[in-house]
Amino acid sequence: LGRAMATADLLVPGARPAVAGPAEAAQLIATYNTMLDRLQAERAAGAGRALQAQERERHRIARELHDEVGQTLTAVLLQLKRVADRVPGELREEVSLAQEATRSGLDEIRRIARRLRPGVLEELGLPSALRSLAAEFTHHGLSVEHHVPGDLPPLAPEAELVLYRVAQESLTNTARHAAADHAALSLRPLADGVELLVRDNGTGLGTAAEGAGIRGMRERALLIGAEIHFEPAPGGGTDVRLRVPAPPGERSADRTGDSP
Ligand SMILES: Nc1ncnc2c1ncn2[C@@H]1O[C@H](COP(=O)(O)OP(=O)(O)OP(=O)(O)O)[C@@H](O)[C@H]1O
Ligand SMILES: [Mg+2]
Repeated sequence: LGRAMATADLLVPGARPAVAGPAEAAQLIATYNTMLDRLQAERAAGAGRALQAQERERHRIARELHDEVGQTLTAVLLQLKRVADRVPGELREEVSLAQEATRSGLDEIRRIARRLRPGVLEELGLPSALRSLAAEFTHHGLSVEHHVPGDLPPLAPEAELVLYRVAQESLTNTARHAAADHAALSLRPLADGVELLVRDNGTGLGTAAEGAGIRGMRERALLIGAEIHFEPAPGGGTDVRLRVPAPPGERSADRTGDSP
């Protein structure tokens, strides 16, 4: 019981000490296990509310960036175009530089808005959103291949968002920390859900302390009853593996006995 108490982690589900020993000790262990169940459920509910608030806030910022700043920059760009048509020769170059800077500012805004709010997820569905994520991270010495089938078992919208955010944070970590030149993002259907695997050939996690990124992935996983594992990849690098259960009613066990 002492060992279990010392190593308890609310973000890692399961792992309960066996209820055994003299009556009083057994009683204590059982009470401890019940307490841990309750704390874990409360923690998951709290994390759920926080993550929902975070997603709403991201939506709002993305919309404002796109609708407000984006509109303003578009207007500036049109104005610059009108100026460029009438400007004397010696200023033409400077106006054209200003046009260039405005255009790249606009691109940047769109990119940031897209990252904040995975609109592709709603518009194109998870498989396309994941493929475009892989393409987005393929640059400057990192190539990301993807294996994402088009026909996946049905998933709840929250589960799709978790899959997307975990893939996004894993690839961000690969790009920031792994010094990898290759990564692979794969999604495969399981008998009772799907498995996401993000594998890189970089330096590996080593003994690095978990930061907000990895804690966030654990919390998101917990929220939808998924399992997440961070392991060394075969031959070096890092594996992030997320197993998401199918929604109730879609599980193969539930389907047995159904009419064809
Ligand atoms: N794919 C990876 N390859 C090598 N090291 C990694 C990888 N992913 C994470 N790490 C290590 O684990 C640490 C924790 O990652 P985590 O995502 O939790 O935090 P972070 O990326 O440092 O910050 P942030 O909160 O912005 O995500 C990183 O600082 C890094 O040292
Ligand atoms: Mg990170």
